[in-house]
Amino acid sequence: MDAREDMPKADTIALRNKHIGKSCQLFYRADPLKIVRGQGQYMYDEQGARYLDCINNVAHVGHCHPKVVEAGRRQLATLSTNNRFLHDELVLCARTLAEKMPGRLSVCYFVNSGSEANDLALRLARQHTGRHEVITLDHAYHGHVSAVMDISPYKFNQPGGDPKPDFVHVAPCPDVYRGKYRDCDYPPGTDLGELYASEVQRLLERSPTGVAAFIAESLQSCGGQIIPPPNYFRRVYEAVRAAGGVTIADEVQVGFGRIGTHYWAFEPHQIIPDIVTIAKPMGNGHPVGAVVTTPEIAESFASTGVCYFNTYGGNPVSCAIANAVMRVIDEEGLQENALLVGHYLLEQCRQLAAEYELVGDVRGTGLFVGIELVSDRQRRVPATSAAKAVVERMKTVHRILVSSDGPDDNVVKLKPPMVFTRENADEFLVGFRECLAHVQGSEKHQVQPQSQQQQQQQPASPAMKTATIRVNHPLAPGGLTLIKSA
Ligand SMILES: Cc1ncc(COP(=O)(O)O)c(C=O)c1O
Repeated sequence: MDAREDMPKADTIALRNKHIGKSCQLFYRADPLKIVRGQGQYMYDEQGARYLDCINNVAHVGHCHPKVVEAGRRQLATLSTNNRFLHDELVLCARTLAEKMPGRLSVCYFVNSGSEANDLALRLARQHTGRHEVITLDHAYHGHVSAVMDISPYKFNQPGGDPKPDFVHVAPCPDVYRGKYRDCDYPPGTDLGELYASEVQRLLERSPTGVAAFIAESLQSCGGQIIPPPNYFRRVYEAVRAAGGVTIADEVQVGFGRIGTHYWAFEPHQIIPDIVTIAKPMGNGHPVGAVVTTPEIAESFASTGVCYFNTYGGNPVSCAIANAVMRVIDEEGLQENALLVGHYLLEQCRQLAAEYELVGDVRGTGLFVGIELVSDRQRRVPATSAAKAVVERMKTVHRILVSSDGPDDNVVKLKPPMVFTRENADEFLVGFRECLAHVQGSEKHQVQPQSQQQQQQQPASPAMKTATIRVNHPLAPGGLTLIKSA
């Protein structure tokens, strides 16, 4: 498809500088990208240059997936109104979500974003428990509206952030590589999940008025792609419930099959939350989210007599799009693709760790991958400037988009669209290897960057769908066998 720019890039930058708030984040600020088109796992700038997208977990089933676009177009041309009228797309979307959730998670509220979903989840939890206090994890981000900024240390711990409210309690992030309890500081077999869970137990015991909710991402993304140790969530959920609180799983980034082994990222922890919040991938770029909970919590919320109304939440266009996204995930086997390609990517990244001192830790599941760069492996010193240099060079030399995150901004994050192929993984690995060699000051792995022309000619290969594979998986002790045929 033809995609044009309406004005030269310099004019776009000038208008943005003039009319868009200075605090709005911009990738690659020194030389920002002007992306005019997306397709599958690729994005194209105003010159037609192709970039491999390893950043966009929102374009979950691939940028501009034709079935999703068509579902939205058709519904927008037919009817877009609010959810105070009956509509089949709304109830079908709720039914599909309920079918995909375990246990008694069967009642849905539709919203427009992850922030709104978490805000509403807090209201549900507070109404159900009659309490106000919340336990959150260090480095967590749960959204930009006031109520969830309060529970987002990722924001309030910044030098200019608002102070943490007294009713919010922060538990250590269960990061066994560089967190409070590190695997290297304890004998093998130590239950680090128990150690981290005991921190939550302590906060529950000290809470002045009782905790309404414990909220956490099932795998913490902003914290630096953290995989919590076994037993952590199980123990925390037991403790929170025993203390009369409810549990909220934020699946805004990690839901909808990204982790490969399961549809929801809380599932391998063998827990069932009381409330689940979802958004980003749900609309493949269209703003739609939801809160899913149990009939009991929904009943408590209804008992106030105050109606829940959200002008756009649950409108037929958003629901038609979400329904199309969920159909495409299943029809195209994208969860299995995430498992297979993610497994390959992780294995190959671990090889890089054997070659480059900079690579301190490689962790992940499915297409949720973190590569933690360190300047001293023994002491696990974060290599923040190296990570920044790698991210920048991946873009300028290799036209591959990755980001960095974590408390020290030293974790290279991969969360590509789920149509990411093994060939895409290889392309990433070639570029990443060259960047590591460059940043480490060695020339021995230097490769020539692909020419723009070569990149443009390379077709988007379909997602890998068939294989029989035994996967060692961090969340499945003993591994997993996946047999998938065409
Ligand atoms: C884990 C998590 N929760 C909630 C949000 C907020 O979602 P939104 O930006 O759609 O409001 C984000 C956004 O980055 C997120 O990463």
